[in-house]
Amino acid sequence: MRETLEKIRKEALEALSAPSAEIEELRIRYLGKKGELTAVLRGMGKLSAEERPVIGQLANDVRAEIEKKIDELNQKKNAALLEAKLRAEKLDVTVPGDDVRAGHFHPLSLVQRQLEDIFLSMGYSIVDGPEVEYDYYNFQALNIPPDHPARDTQDTFYITDNILLRSQTSPVQARVMEKTQPPIKIISPGRVYRSDAVDATHSPLFHQLEGLVIDRGITMGDLKGTLEMFAKRMFGENTRIRFRPHHFPFTEPSAEVDVSCFVCGGTGCRLCKGEGWIEILGAGMVHPNVLRNCGIDPEEYSGFAFGLGIERIALLKYHIDDMRLLYENDIRFLNQF
Ligand code: DAH
Repeated sequence: MRETLEKIRKEALEALSAPSAEIEELRIRYLGKKGELTAVLRGMGKLSAEERPVIGQLANDVRAEIEKKIDELNQKKNAALLEAKLRAEKLDVTVPGDDVRAGHFHPLSLVQRQLEDIFLSMGYSIVDGPEVEYDYYNFQALNIPPDHPARDTQDTFYITDNILLRSQTSPVQARVMEKTQPPIKIISPGRVYRSDAVDATHSPLFHQLEGLVIDRGITMGDLKGTLEMFAKRMFGENTRIRFRPHHFPFTEPSAEVDVSCFVCGGTGCRLCKGEGWIEILGAGMVHPNVLRNCGIDPEEYSGFAFGLGIERIALLKYHIDDMRLLYENDIRFLNQF
């Protein structure tokens, strides 16, 4: 029996040491229920009382030795598997990520947003109006009847005799007043169109921002205060404003409004062409005819309106000398904002 056990030990350890050893198969073959070592242990009953503990001890040693070898091999195998797995799943967290190219706003959008922020903070709401507009809203409701000379400066694109691409954002005034009784306090930014040839200061498509305030007891003082506040927020705390008499059919009185040059402060420089002042918008007290046209009683209510060109503000603010740059979408230009 002793020889059988020694033989099992030798064979088992040899078999397990072979590089191609199938560990689990060998475990079953030597240590399994029907395995060789188990078979020997079963025969122990036949041994004499003296032999039994000696052979028993030897059998245990052989079993322990084989088990130890199997454990070692399994551990090695698992370590190798883990190593391979880690290698396969290797992730270098220090590799720089893929560049996420975030876009950014166009200079016109930047200016429009800044304008909106300023007026929102003063309690204005933003409203939208159609770009394809009726002649009625673009002109007639605004006190510009057919054949009025003011139409000459706002020649636009006609869809039919009565429908056109709006030449100004002012028709939104009429649309809002028709639908809403005062108090009204809105701005309306958007695209406008004129049949102008393209050059450094003209484009057939550009953007305006309209403002309208209607309530009881609104005066020219409210208009001046509002525009002064706006000018300081937009162009800097030291900015002053100046009203020059002008004519718009839909306001009375009307004014063109200048701001003191935000580059030289008013002493005269290249930006303001030596004037010290820069024209930025048109404004006035809403004409009683316009209020009446839109169902608001001019005896009870008054209000002011203003309209500014968003391109003009963008060109001034960013010192851009050619309006065409705003529409060409040259990435070298746009990347500067
Ligand atoms: N709509 C005018 C234009 O395009 C600008 C304007 C002037 C708007 C005076 C107004 C205003 O609301 O009161 O030239």
